[in-house]
Amino acid sequence: MIRLATPDVDDTDIAAVVAVLRCGTLVQATRVREFERRAAAVIGAAEAVAVSNCTSALQLALLAIGVGPGDRVAVPSFSWPATANVVVLCGAEPVFVDIERETNGMDPDALEAAFATHDRIKAVLPVHAFGAMARMSAITTLAARHGAFVIEDAACALGAEREGRGAGTWGGIGCFSFHPRKAVTTGEGGVAVTADAAIARRIRALRNHGLDPDSATPEFIAPGYNMRLTEFQAALGLTQLAKLDRILEHRRRLARRYTELLAGAPVVTPAEPPGVRHVFQSYVVLLPCDLAPRRASLIATLRGRGVETTIGTHHLPLTTYFRQRYRYRPGDFPVTDDVFSRALTLPLHTGLAESDQVTVAEALRAAL
Ligand SMILES: Cc1ncc(COP(=O)(O)O)c(C=O)c1O
Repeated sequence: MIRLATPDVDDTDIAAVVAVLRCGTLVQATRVREFERRAAAVIGAAEAVAVSNCTSALQLALLAIGVGPGDRVAVPSFSWPATANVVVLCGAEPVFVDIERETNGMDPDALEAAFATHDRIKAVLPVHAFGAMARMSAITTLAARHGAFVIEDAACALGAEREGRGAGTWGGIGCFSFHPRKAVTTGEGGVAVTADAAIARRIRALRNHGLDPDSATPEFIAPGYNMRLTEFQAALGLTQLAKLDRILEHRRRLARRYTELLAGAPVVTPAEPPGVRHVFQSYVVLLPCDLAPRRASLIATLRGRGVETTIGTHHLPLTTYFRQRYRYRPGDFPVTDDVFSRALTLPLHTGLAESDQVTVAEALRAAL
């Protein structure tokens, strides 16, 4: 089976983890701090706070800026459910915003309409879908005009850029994932980055039982969670980050090759507009409209030919919880309706051989 994703884990990664397991210090300590320093440098942020996963980073980011009951947070309608779940888990209400085709991210015009129809939008949470950045200059300008804080869901976008500026550095807080489907991994893991020392301090306290990170004696300054990263995860993160540039270039080469192999096929291949560095956390094509209702059987056919594929990501307003709670219907988010129904993710990881890519492209053409 040509797998959708496999992590790039080598002997150096394994040795780093084993060394930590042998030394006996397993809970957040020096390696976590070193991982935070490296992550901040790679992302181009002043501060990075390591946490148990990107969902935790997003939730703590919202709590750190005081989002709670009575507040609204604008989120794109096309994403992994965590993006909207964290808003509800803080007691606030998500305002779904349709996406645009070029980026698969939040449409600034739709965001403007959301501000016109909803008050109390305290934060905007754009997602950099599949490793391509949302149109951040328009989004941050709109958010600033309406006094809303920006938190970037950059779970899939480590190393992505737009207009020479990296993902996670446009908003007040940027959140990243190190899940194994991402370019580099810590098994489970995440970081929240920010230029604001006070926000970083609040997130550090919230991830660790509310313990004041700056106090010499134990002071519990808030009701906090345990959302810490372990030392062995941080050790893996350090060896993984050391090869980030190579991995991202490799993934970008594989993406370009797919686009060549699929030239002339009846699918829309992903775009990399000028000024954008797409890091291809996923290589997602759009099927012809008439094949959208048969996508599940296409995925099964490809699996039968030894190729693992999947959908793009989720239509959040039409997932069971949000559909039942807010009575959303098809047609409420027309671009998401279309992209969600046609998106197909192809295998992409550094273990993919040239011959595998040819097999994937041929299987897809045949199945179409
Ligand atoms: C856009 C987006 N946000 C958040 C998450 C959650 O990340 P994690 O699995 O690290 O909690 C994901 C996971 O894939 C994601 O794709």
